[in-house]
Amino acid sequence: MQSVAQKVEHQLTDKGYVPVYTTRVIEQPWDSYTAEDHRTWATLFQRQRELLVGRAAQEFLDNQQRFGMSADAIPKFQDLNHVLRAATGWELIGVEGLLPELTFFEHLAARRFPVTWWIRKPGQLDYLSEPDLFHDLFGHVPLLLNPVFADYMQAYGAGGVKAAAIGPEALVNLTRLYWYTVEFGLINTDQGLRIYGAGIVSSKGESIYSLESAAPNRIGFDLERVMCTRYRIDTYQKTYFVIDSYEQLMEATRPDFTPLYARLAQLPSQAAGDVLASDRVFQRGSGEGWLNDGDV
Ligand SMILES: [Fe+2]
Repeated sequence: MQSVAQKVEHQLTDKGYVPVYTTRVIEQPWDSYTAEDHRTWATLFQRQRELLVGRAAQEFLDNQQRFGMSADAIPKFQDLNHVLRAATGWELIGVEGLLPELTFFEHLAARRFPVTWWIRKPGQLDYLSEPDLFHDLFGHVPLLLNPVFADYMQAYGAGGVKAAAIGPEALVNLTRLYWYTVEFGLINTDQGLRIYGAGIVSSKGESIYSLESAAPNRIGFDLERVMCTRYRIDTYQKTYFVIDSYEQLMEATRPDFTPLYARLAQLPSQAAGDVLASDRVFQRGSGEGWLNDGDV
């Protein structure tokens, strides 16, 4: 099946300026994956599975197995959806790439998670500017089996629809929440800090850096703190925020953010590497290798 996606605009995202597509939902063209595509999946899958033992949240790894994800072949969305619908009522939908923001929020609010159908080329194993199938499927989908995290993602989508109506500043605040949790979040467990953010688990380098490097800050999650903190799109993060549980995320997201946006509008934003007196600090980063400008 040939997709007919049309690029409409470029949008600043977690990976820089990337194309946004008009495409709505498309069927995963599974038969069109080449042997090379399946090999790319296998290489990335095996590499990250090995690396993530003892680094990713155990539930993340277990859930990949519940889905039956393996190195054998690129999973079929249809098969994953049987498991996912039964567990949390979520559904994966195939897309060509990043969607316009409001469309993305509307999907999440309806418990539909958009997954890019195509996978990167073998020369792009370690870096890709747009989210692809590996990032979306390997990174984002496993935690959708967790009922609390699944509710959090829906609440985030509903919050996005609301924020879009309030204005661009509200969206900036909300986007930081997604960034520092869904993409780059760490969780505190009895065994130590573990990764749950999709942006980290789908990156070999950041899977190690986020947990083991002395350079970044690791700071306890606080909703307001996160919403006023800028971030990096061109380097590893200067700060990772640590949650205690997915319940904590869900609870923080439950209230209406409208008064919070109004309050945050009066406050200066924090640089990505700032440590505040009020922070619960797991690690104060050495700052080694940090660039001075470029926070977004
Ligand atoms: Fe992502």
